[in-house]
Formats: sequence, structure tokens, C-alpha cells
Amino acid sequence: MKVLITGATGLVGSTLVEKALSLGHEIHFLTTQKSKLAEKQKMKGFYWNPSTNELDEACFEGVDAIVHLAGASISQRWTKKNKESISSSRINGTRLLVDSIRRCNGKHQIKQVVAASAIGIYPSSFEMIYTEDYLPKRSSFLEEVVMDWEQEEDGFSAVGLQLTKLRIGLVLTKRGGVLGPMKIPTWFGLGAAFGSGNQMQSWIHVDDLVGMILTAIDQNWEGVFNAVSPNPVSQKVFTKTLAKAMERIYFLPPIPKLFIRLAVGEMSTLVFNSQNVSAEKAQKEGFVFIHPELLPAIKSLL
Ligand SMILES: NC(=O)c1ccc[n+]([C@@H]2O[C@H](COP(=O)([O-])OP(=O)(O)OC[C@H]3O[C@@H](n4cnc5c(N)ncnc54)[C@H](OP(=O)(O)O)[C@@H]3O)[C@@H](O)[C@H]2O)c1
Repeated sequence: MKVLITGATGLVGSTLVEKALSLGHEIHFLTTQKSKLAEKQKMKGFYWNPSTNELDEACFEGVDAIVHLAGASISQRWTKKNKESISSSRINGTRLLVDSIRRCNGKHQIKQVVAASAIGIYPSSFEMIYTEDYLPKRSSFLEEVVMDWEQEEDGFSAVGLQLTKLRIGLVLTKRGGVLGPMKIPTWFGLGAAFGSGNQMQSWIHVDDLVGMILTAIDQNWEGVFNAVSPNPVSQKVFTKTLAKAMERIYFLPPIPKLFIRLAVGEMSTLVFNSQNVSAEKAQKEGFVFIHPELLPAIKSLL
């Protein structure tokens, strides 16, 4: 199978590329960085730029499925300019892909699209357990961005493709991601929860996320699926578990909300939001998690 990946150079995309190549798939990828266009065995890069509406349509040649992951990082200070880039990179990138497929006038063999979304579509709540049928509202910046992003992704269905939208939780990887910045203080015994520490964190091991993406393609999943492990934990448990996995002491009280808000501004909602998200729909579809529990999941990445 030949898969076209956007965001292939990112945290999730690079693990997906490794796995897909190891399974014998061929990869086309779209990148905004001309320096990363190098061609390797079974892998070819193509240039696109959603902000200038450029896309090399040769990227679609022989492609059976698309995995659409691209978008500017949300882990940057939420200034007006960065917020605009977080939103427009997702809206314009998705629109450019859909419009380019439409311009092929059916002269392609793409059947399935797996598109990234995020659990940020669910408002913070200490009571709710979120399933995919929750009707989102537009009560925060993140909710708005993800709703607009998903709405734009519906364009893939409109051009006749089978669409899976994955609402991704906090991705645990070896490099970067949520674990990256937490590992250093934890190593020095300075790990601490944020705010009350009772906010729920719905996480997923990158290998399970990649497995879910490939399963969605193989089994033609249609619709929205939460991409989270079946065992979300509170932030307090998360930081304690990380310290345990690293065999470090954990004794500090939680860091007050105000400190973090002063340090990183509105983006602090990323660590204070509580989202208890259900993995049941993917499990009912037959997906089996390799890393359903947090402690072994973290240990596998250290
Ligand atoms: N990691 C998480 O915890 C998490 C959680 C929920 C949802 N997600 C979503 O899952 C997707 C993949 O996540 P990730 O962690 O792998 O992201 P990432 O490491 O930030 O990589 C995203 C990729 O998007 C491309 N990109 C960056 N800015 C862009 C722009 N302005 N226009 C077009 N493309 C741009 C880059 O590829 P090039 O430089 O090659 O163009 C980059 O490699 C993202 O859409 C993210 O929002 C991730």
C-alpha cells in the first residue's frame, strides 16, 4: 500500500513512517520544508505550503490512503500571531488537500483518509466522561480550533473518501511531547503536579496511536474515534507514576495555578484542563492496546 502522510516529520508522523516502512508500505509525504525533501528507498517527499496554497499534486500518484497530521504546534505561547498560525495551518492545510484531490477529478486511487483531531474539542470537566457522540461547543480557543479543523476535514468525505477522524490525547513518546519537559525536573526529584493535580489526563502511547492509524486504514474505520488509552489518570497520578518509572523521589506539593499562568499565559489551560476521555469505541471496533497502563507505557519509553 502507498500512504501519503502530512506532518510526517513530526513527533507522531516520524514514528508512523518508521512503522509503515517496516511493514513494507511505501510512503509519500508532504512537507513545508524544502530541506527535508530527500528521496529514500520506498519514501518520497513533496513540497506544500498551506499559507501560499502550493501543493505538488504528484504526491497523489499511486496513493491508497492519506494520513493527515500537519499543523503548527499548540505548545507555544498563545499570542495573537501564534493562535492564528495554530488555527490557519490546520484549516488551510486541510482545505488545500481537499481542493487538490477535487482537482484530480477522480483520477486517483485514494480511498481512505485518517485525519488528526484532538481531545481539546472536549471542554474541561471534572465529572464528564467524554465519548465521541458528545456535541461540542465553542467555549474556548482550543474547542473552536478543533471544531473548525474537524469541520474542514469533512471535506474529505465530500470528495468521496472514507474518513476517520482521530481525537488524539496526550501522546507519550521517547522524544519530546508531554514527557520531554517533565523528565528533567523529575530526574532531580523536583517533579510536581500542576494546580489541584486532580485534573484528568487522557494519554496514549505513540505506538498505540500509530497502531490505531494503521488499523483505521486497514479496516476502513469511518467517523470519529477517540485516540486515548483506556486508563486516563489524574495529573497527580501522572507525575507520581513518571517519578516511579524513573525511580526518583516525589515529594513536592503541586505548583499553584497562578505561577504557571503567569509563566505561560493562556496556554496554561493545556495542563489545567481535565478531560476524561473514553477509549471504548475503538476497543469495540476490536482495537487492542499494547500499552493500556501508564507505568509500563512510560517505562517502555525511558
Ligand atoms: N502530540 C500530541 O500530544 C497531540 C495531541 C493531540 C493532537 N495532536 C495532533 O496530532 C498531529 C500530530 O502531532 P505531533 O505531535 O506529531 O505534531 P508535531 O510534532 O508538532 O508535527 C506536526 C507537523 O506539522 C507540520 N507543520 C508545522 N507547522 C505547519 C504549518 N504552519 N503548516 C503546515 N504544516 C505544518 C510539520 O511538518 P513539516 O515541517 O514537515 O511541514 C510538523 O512536523 C497534530 O496535528 C497535533 O495537533 C497531537
